[in-house]
Amino acid sequence: MDAVSKTSPTTATLKVGDDSWELPILSGTIGPDVVDIGKLYGQTGMFTYDPGFTSTASCESQITYIDGDAGVLLYRGYPIEQLAENGDFLETCYLLLYGELPTAAQKADFDYRVTRHTMVHEQMSRFFHGFRRDAHPMAVLVASVGAMSAFYHDSTDISDPQQRMIASIRMIAKMPTLAAMAYKYSIGQPFVYPKNDLDYASNFLRMCFSVPCEEYKANPVLSRAIDRIFILHADHEQNASTSTVRLAGSSGANPFACIAAGIACLWGPAHGGANEAALKMLGEIGSVDRIPEYIKRAKDKNDPFRLMGFGHRVYKNYDPRAKIMQKTCHEVLGELGIKDDPLLDIAVELERIALQDEYFVERKLYPNIDFYSGITLRALGFPTAMFTVLFALARTVGWIGQWKEMIEDPGQRIGRPRQLYTGAVQRDYTSIARRK
Ligand code: CMC
Repeated sequence: MDAVSKTSPTTATLKVGDDSWELPILSGTIGPDVVDIGKLYGQTGMFTYDPGFTSTASCESQITYIDGDAGVLLYRGYPIEQLAENGDFLETCYLLLYGELPTAAQKADFDYRVTRHTMVHEQMSRFFHGFRRDAHPMAVLVASVGAMSAFYHDSTDISDPQQRMIASIRMIAKMPTLAAMAYKYSIGQPFVYPKNDLDYASNFLRMCFSVPCEEYKANPVLSRAIDRIFILHADHEQNASTSTVRLAGSSGANPFACIAAGIACLWGPAHGGANEAALKMLGEIGSVDRIPEYIKRAKDKNDPFRLMGFGHRVYKNYDPRAKIMQKTCHEVLGELGIKDDPLLDIAVELERIALQDEYFVERKLYPNIDFYSGITLRALGFPTAMFTVLFALARTVGWIGQWKEMIEDPGQRIGRPRQLYTGAVQRDYTSIARRK
């Protein structure tokens, strides 16, 4: 892949003392230009230093674009608002994987291919039975997705495009089944097999909430809500878990192992674990009159407390996903007849106060997607431990799309960052008797 070439300026000059070097500047279709430092070490003997990757583009990509200042998120050029309003999750999956929205025939074929792969190897249920019942479902998901490379070894050859596609479809199709199994196992209920005449979201809800002794009827409003939540989480360019997937994949590791690595990274509270943490925080605040106390704590540099579901590395404006999530939250509560949710009252008031507070305004801290997702998922019947599992389910397509893009790039090399070493300089070994 080649970045779009630029007319001027095409180079940046790096000056160190009396020496200077010309570094190429590359431009994308939108977004900031990048200074290409690929040859910097060879030319200057120096590395660049950017531990949190705040100024570093780690790859070239054509999948997702974020303008954090304007609060814009595009999948393959399409605004997230339009996709969430008009499309469905499998259409979004197709778009992310293939680059274009499907025609009706392509969509029907894709839905069919995904639906045919929803069952997991029967032996996997025995694998699940090895876990403790009180295991966190994210721990179970990391392990079971990693184990897919043992169960589906016939789609682990990454040099074969056909195997890459089968592995991709398998993961999109089986993730809801595995996520629902992790949930069912934790509450001691039997696993529910997928039902292929249902749409993706309804099938997932049924696998989570039906029991063999009763008929289950999918509620279209709730199915639509969960489908929209999946669309909102489907991709988010080079975030921590996606970068983890790319780095793991750069060594040639199989796709199931790479996605398991992404799930492990997503689990952290600064990333996908924030929805669980945000809901816990709202519960801990407990009532609207205690909000000022928590705002004060969030601003206190000696207190590690942060407002969970607030702030974002890239968005310095309202997270566009948070707006849609807030609307979805109201729709779900309305459909379920939940007129007064004390946690929603706290969330709305907390947002109102924080958005007027100088500390949050100055730092451009706005609600992110996780602020309202916890309330919505809880109303849908999911326990907090499942929140990040749902995030992982939805993000799987983004991880796969990014992994495929990397593998299919002819210029792809193993990712190997360098470091600023500040440890001991070379010294001689001393025998244990002579050590002080
Ligand atoms: N509450 C209070 N202060 C905050 C918060 C917060 N939630 N977030 C950032 N700040 C302050 C931070 O203390 C710092 O202040 P100062 O400049 O005075 O030192 C300033 O804002 C910049 O913060 P930072 O930690 O340098 O920003 P970052 O880009 O490294 O971190 C973040 C981004 C999302 C990890 C952080 O905002 C955070 O911890 N938020 C809460 C967790 C959360 O909601 N995460 C979900 C992210 S969205 C879903 C996803 O992508 O996974």
